[in-house]
Amino acid sequence: MSDFAELSVEGKKYQLPIVEGTEAEKAIDINKLRDESGYITIDSGYKNTGATKSAITFLDGEKGILNYRGYSIEDLAAKATFLEVAYLLIYGELPTTEQYAEFEGAIRRHTIVNEGVRTIFEGFPVNSHPMATLSSLVSSLSAFYPDSYEGKDNSDRHIIRLLAKLPTIASWSYKRAMGHPMNYPKNDLDYCSNFLHMMFSLPVEKYEVDPVVASALNTLLILHADHEQNCSTSTVRLVGSSQANLYSSISAGISALWGPLHGGANQEVIEMLEAIKADGGDVSKYIEMAKNAKTTGFRLFGFGHRVYKNFDPRAKIIKKAADEVLAKLGVNDPVLEIAKGLEEAALNDEYFIARKLYPNVDFYSGIIYRALGIPTNMFTVMFAIGRLPGWIAQWKEMRATKEPIGRPRQIYTGATLREFVSIENR
Ligand code: CMC
Repeated sequence: MSDFAELSVEGKKYQLPIVEGTEAEKAIDINKLRDESGYITIDSGYKNTGATKSAITFLDGEKGILNYRGYSIEDLAAKATFLEVAYLLIYGELPTTEQYAEFEGAIRRHTIVNEGVRTIFEGFPVNSHPMATLSSLVSSLSAFYPDSYEGKDNSDRHIIRLLAKLPTIASWSYKRAMGHPMNYPKNDLDYCSNFLHMMFSLPVEKYEVDPVVASALNTLLILHADHEQNCSTSTVRLVGSSQANLYSSISAGISALWGPLHGGANQEVIEMLEAIKADGGDVSKYIEMAKNAKTTGFRLFGFGHRVYKNFDPRAKIIKKAADEVLAKLGVNDPVLEIAKGLEEAALNDEYFIARKLYPNVDFYSGIIYRALGIPTNMFTVMFAIGRLPGWIAQWKEMRATKEPIGRPRQIYTGATLREFVSIENR
């Protein structure tokens, strides 16, 4: 293979270096294109643009492969704890027993959140969307840890703090919405169990974490932990590229995740399935509506993916887990059958086949979260807790490799220079 691609514009030829990754992915390096030719490239939605080189996550959308640091998602979901995966993503290797004890222990010690943050939280309306409070409060953490600002302390303590405090902050929304007293963390519990305790334990009765629930949560968090340069991760890297601190960068990622085309889809899926159920459960009607998206404006949430064009490996694992978890918990959720019917109808429909639209990670995850007792408006918060190590790893990598500030260009299509007209003459 040649080391260069050749571009011919206006009779001139330009040689553009070829870049190849460890999994044989290929790219054309256009770093010098504008300097040499005066041209830029346009790629709306960045469908073909590699924003970075990264050693964290490999994803092959055609083959349905997802690996974190070389380990398959299937293996990790079956064998690892979420914090092992977090360590792997952030530091590049699976931890030894000693490294894990230190990492996990440090996270346990930092679960409590400054009471000042809670005072801010209490200023929010009671029924605020949990994603609104989560992004705001994560951003506010930078005010509580000013040493996180650039030029001061960028040590791992901020990483530990974020991992430790996010579940605590997330649980507040639920407790407040229920009108129940908030729980402080119990640091003798592991990461998932501690979150479940903060969510569901009440001072009036004994609460014991159900190991089935803790294990299902562990799997879901692992499946969400990283997904290379998706919308929220790219946001984290872009914000971080201005040398904004970790808390602000992650808060921006949480905001990006909230959108219904991204992480917000898991909430939309359950609402859609509930709507289908309330409408008599006729999935074909909704399939037809989705096929006429241009006139109906309706999309099947939890379907389609920018990168996966055969299947989403996470969705495969989650679908199986949904059956197992609901059976173990003795939950019979009628929307699971509706979801399966919708999937089957879509997978056999020419519209979906032609566009390579398959269930994505968000399609079945909400059904499990619901069986675990997590309210619908917290589904995207759960995604954020899972994605946090990925965001941190990507932010850390971007800073370590000293990537330049992210600053795309544009092709201007507005008015050309015109003279100012004073207000009375307009
Ligand atoms: N239902 C019906 N039609 C769809 C859907 C859908 N969910 N998704 C894509 N299409 C159609 C779309 O109308 C277009 O058709 P045409 O070629 O006739 O114009 C074609 O498929 C290609 O779609 P696109 O919007 O150009 O694809 P994209 O890569 O820009 O968008 C997506 C990817 C995930 C935003 C999109 O599939 C979608 O909106 N899905 C629903 C929302 C969703 O489930 N999001 C979660 C994604 S996975 C979790 C995460 O990582 O965020």
